[in-house]
Amino acid sequence: MAGLSSTARQDITALRQDFPILQQQFGRYPLTYLDSAATTQKPTAVIAALDNYYRTMNANVHRAAHQLSDRATAAFEGARDTVQQFVNAAHRHEIIWTRGTTEAINLVAQSWGRSQLRAGDEILISEMEHHANIVPWQMLCQETGARLQAIRVTPDGELDLAHFEQLLNERTALVAICHVSNTLGTINPVASIIAAAHDAGARVLLDGAQAVAHLPIDVQALDADFYAFSGHKLYGPTGIGVLYGKESLLDAMPPWQTGGEMIEQVTLAHTTFNQLPFKFEAGTPHIAGAIGLGAAIEYLSAIDPAALRAHEDALLARGTALLQQIDGLRLVGTAAQKIPVLSFLLEGGHPQDVGTLLDQQGIAVRAGHHCTMPLMQSLAIPGTVRASMSLYNNQDDLERLHQGLIKTRSFL
Ligand code: ALA
Repeated sequence: MAGLSSTARQDITALRQDFPILQQQFGRYPLTYLDSAATTQKPTAVIAALDNYYRTMNANVHRAAHQLSDRATAAFEGARDTVQQFVNAAHRHEIIWTRGTTEAINLVAQSWGRSQLRAGDEILISEMEHHANIVPWQMLCQETGARLQAIRVTPDGELDLAHFEQLLNERTALVAICHVSNTLGTINPVASIIAAAHDAGARVLLDGAQAVAHLPIDVQALDADFYAFSGHKLYGPTGIGVLYGKESLLDAMPPWQTGGEMIEQVTLAHTTFNQLPFKFEAGTPHIAGAIGLGAAIEYLSAIDPAALRAHEDALLARGTALLQQIDGLRLVGTAAQKIPVLSFLLEGGHPQDVGTLLDQQGIAVRAGHHCTMPLMQSLAIPGTVRASMSLYNNQDDLERLHQGLIKTRSFL
């Protein structure tokens, strides 16, 4: 991650203290938060940045002739610079603020997709996509006559790369896949997928929602055409996200939402549009959210990435080993490369019931299809229980999950 210095924080276990919400009890149980793939908790640094924004600089950006607005604008645009460095974008105007990953993907589908796709073109996704990286392309295909194809997923939860190569052809206009699976934790080999897609003449959009909190992101090294992510899965606020796009693509794309800020000149007869990035940022943006996301990235960037990766790998390894000790538990998703996500089924227990029984012991997990119904259909399962971890989780959380599951099993 960007910003590593000799003062980078090495002691990952100490980071838990930065998250006030984790100090709570639920009845007689401490909170065991294992739902970070749904949303991460927020460190004090982010909470303080939001508080400070509203206390000291709340004003609308770019427009006013007063100092408070200058202050808000500087912080808001400073956060854009922070994001640019974080993903190593070539230009700050390649960073577009959105409400989140979903809106970023919809922006590409509706602006790039509608203007570029023709009947007979193909869009290649995979069976492991979140609905947010399926439905916008389905609707675009219905509108344009393009065809949606999906790469199969292996029983281990990896992309079937031979199938990818079979599906990729000169009609493929776009490959849109997740960098990391939200349901299984699989880290996809996106660099080689992008290289192959580019050789075939296709553009590539990566859904980075689950990757950004766990992996270093370098959009130039990856040569990604579009990269989408959300602030709230990165220790930042909800309601703010990012679309990175290559300048040449964004420049050629028509505006999407229209209104204030995205215009240059308006008469009642005609409108000309603002430059990047503002062309895609109609209306008052989520100023506090952008500033909060900047603070989250600064927080994460101050942590030694090697120490963080080692901590998360250790959580995954220990969690996998503990769950494998439980009779009747089946792990779903055992890819060689994973972030610390444990999806599983417990014999005799519907995922929802298992989730409820764990919740009664203070253990927060997600249960269901995780917005990946086609993946569930492909794996022929109704859903899973998902324990997803992040930098603030520790071995005690895993022990409590283990004990919680043993107790849950005794109720089934
Ligand atoms: N996409 C989020 C998840 O996987 C909400 O839980």
